[in-house]
Amino acid sequence: MSKGLLCITIVGASVSSASAEPTATKVEAPAPGTVSKTEGLEAWQRVYEVASHPRCANCHVGPSERPMWSGPSYGETRPHGMNVYAGESRIGAEYLLCSTCHVTSNGERGNPIPHAAPRVAGAWRLAPKEADWFGKSSPAICQQLRDPARNGNRTYQQLAQHLDHDVILHWAWNPGGGREPAPHSLTAHIKDILTWGAAGMPCPDDKTAKADPTP
Ligand code: HEC
Ligand code: HEC
Repeated sequence: MSKGLLCITIVGASVSSASAEPTATKVEAPAPGTVSKTEGLEAWQRVYEVASHPRCANCHVGPSERPMWSGPSYGETRPHGMNVYAGESRIGAEYLLCSTCHVTSNGERGNPIPHAAPRVAGAWRLAPKEADWFGKSSPAICQQLRDPARNGNRTYQQLAQHLDHDVILHWAWNPGGGREPAPHSLTAHIKDILTWGAAGMPCPDDKTAKADPTP
């Protein structure tokens, strides 16, 4: 992809109940090769700060099938209470559906009551096993995200676009209920993914710089 504007559609959910109309945000995507490895790694560090934050990592668990409760609003870190398992389905179909408690509130923003189940998406569920971020190191998450075999077969541009169409992501930056929002902002996060990608998706433990950024 050459230099250009990546048009991202922001779904106006969870920010305010006033409007559910999508609005368009234009994020400038740097051309591949125009970003140094150092800048790429700086951008990656910010991406990692987001990915490892409880608002993201609590759902991004691996084969344990157990969502996590972590972050200051939870006190101690522990698996989701009430013996909740997501199962192979990742939505609890084999046990108790996530949607039993994580119901979508019609047009209402998130859930402002502390310790109530977040109510933001009809399809509240665990991330795919491959996107196993909870407690994982920066290099481990980095390698997963740049590996098409484990990231849903996405280019970095597709990762950036993917980030924006999901109301869960909007919730993570505006969770309410005494929960700490994810760091930076959704727009900054998308820019960081694009910057990291244009630098050739460097990871902190790479032996040598990737000379040729993946198109
Ligand atoms: C409620 C659970 C949940 C939360 C919270 C959550 N995610 Fe996800 N995430 C998912 C699910 C489910 C998918 C798979 C969606 C798909 O493939 O269509 C996913 C997929 C992704 C992907 C695609 C890449 C891959 O390897 O599969 C990225 C990137 C991502 N999430 C980033 C984030 C970030 C950043 C946050 C926090 C700001 C976050 N997620 C919070 C459930 C969650
Ligand atoms: C019996 C009700 C119930 C069921 C079923 C349930 N949850 Fe929850 N969930 C809750 C409650 C309540 C909280 C908030 C607890 C708190 O803040 O102290 C929560 C919080 C969470 C969180 C933490 C969100 C954050 O970062 O603050 C995640 C992740 C989560 N649930 C995922 C799931 C998944 C995935 C399923 C299905 C496999 C599921 N839950 C099923 C009640 C439920």
